[in-house]
Amino acid sequence: MTIKSSNTVWHRATVTRQRRADLNNHKSTLLWFTGLSGSGKSTLAHALEEKLYQMGYHTFVLDGDNVRHGLCGDLGFSNTDRVENIRRVSETTKLFIEAGVIVLTAFISPFRADRDKARKLVGDNDFIEIYCNCPLEICEERDVKGLYSLARKGKIKEFTGISSPYEEPKNPELMVDTGGGKNLDECVEQILEFLIQRKIYELKPIV
Ligand code: ADX
Repeated sequence: MTIKSSNTVWHRATVTRQRRADLNNHKSTLLWFTGLSGSGKSTLAHALEEKLYQMGYHTFVLDGDNVRHGLCGDLGFSNTDRVENIRRVSETTKLFIEAGVIVLTAFISPFRADRDKARKLVGDNDFIEIYCNCPLEICEERDVKGLYSLARKGKIKEFTGISSPYEEPKNPELMVDTGGGKNLDECVEQILEFLIQRKIYELKPIV
């Protein structure tokens, strides 16, 4: 992206990320869920958020369908629009991380290059890529929103997995079997375990 806003000067905040972490009693980070439509990204992100919230953590979920009602409401599903969607979301996550929040994103984010750009933008330490691994056949069989059926009939163009590509992560921090091998609670536990290892989740819950 070309920066068009010239003559702007960065203003440094006195309330820094570190000070927010001290106040919150936990670190901020980004949990980036990726996977096909219907693979369970939103369900899992919200279930995990619920658990973290109950323990006193400051969290926020950015969800594809929701963000596309506002911030990204002008974007469709062409490759170019998906790239821009993920770019805006990535920049937003950076702000949330600065704000001291554990941010969870649930976007298909089908292109490896865009996920890698997000990783680069926030830094390797803060980017936890979670691949919701659910085979296309199962997503299609579930077809919770009825979109796969419409895509098969050609009524929705450029549908991920049908008429638009999905590039699986090669080396995600976590791969969660959302295709039926594990139930929701087990998937949440798997991620919590990882957060403990990362020392994000080690601080005593605020009661
Ligand atoms: S992304 O590819 O740009 O990351 P995003 O996660 O924001 O996609 O939005 C995906 C959601 O939009 C899907 O879960 C589905 O509900 C809806 N959707 C509508 N049209 C499409 C399409 N052509 N391809 C994929 N998802 C679509």
